[in-house]
Amino acid sequence: MRTLEAIAQRRSIKHFQPNQAMPEQDVQQLLNAAQQAPTSFNIQHGRIIRVTDPALRIKLQEAAWGQAQVTEASELWALCADVDAWKKAPQRYWQTVDADKQQFIVNMLTDFYSGKEQLQRDEAIRSCGIIGQTVMLAAKDLGYDSCPMIGFDADAVADLIQLPEDHVVGMLIAIGTASESAWPRGGFIPQDEVVFENTF
Ligand SMILES: Cc1cc2nc3c(=O)[nH]c(=O)nc-3n(C[C@H](O)[C@H](O)[C@H](O)COP(=O)(O)O)c2cc1C
Repeated sequence: MRTLEAIAQRRSIKHFQPNQAMPEQDVQQLLNAAQQAPTSFNIQHGRIIRVTDPALRIKLQEAAWGQAQVTEASELWALCADVDAWKKAPQRYWQTVDADKQQFIVNMLTDFYSGKEQLQRDEAIRSCGIIGQTVMLAAKDLGYDSCPMIGFDADAVADLIQLPEDHVVGMLIAIGTASESAWPRGGFIPQDEVVFENTF
């Protein structure tokens, strides 16, 4: 499938065929795609919780206002990020380059993030978004549907997945086979309300 086709065909699905396990090789392909999503300075701070425990899915569904996707979809992933990844042995994000270049980049990224908590958090959420779209398009390519979700009690979800203190939850993503079509499109606002040339 061409990328533009996947972009056009991806829709947010609210009902999936239940009890349909995703073949492990497809899961692995989606995880590989997720890992290839870009991150600033390659800090790779995205963390994916694959929720495979049906009992936990039910609890998460309660935290997500009963949304059916949470229990019906073949895969439910909580896309999270480690807000402090930038300072956790950052040389490992540049393990393939020579020592001088590695040190240069590590110094640069350390200066960039040090003391800037809002930026660290923005970056974490930004990366979850990019991972999310990457996974949803890859899922479409493999013949699956998906739904990104932020309709949940973030504190309750954090408790349920035992989110570490220095991590954030970006979104949940449900992936599987649709059992109902997406809602009709809400429509797009005019492009001149969205796109500007040079300045606002
Ligand atoms: C960050 C984010 C959170 C969303 N949360 C939910 C959600 O909790 N439940 C849901 O059914 N749809 C959710 N959606 C889906 C949107 O409603 C949907 O993307 C939008 O209406 C456009 O429709 P489309 O994705 O089918 O093109 C979410 C989408 C995004 C990007």
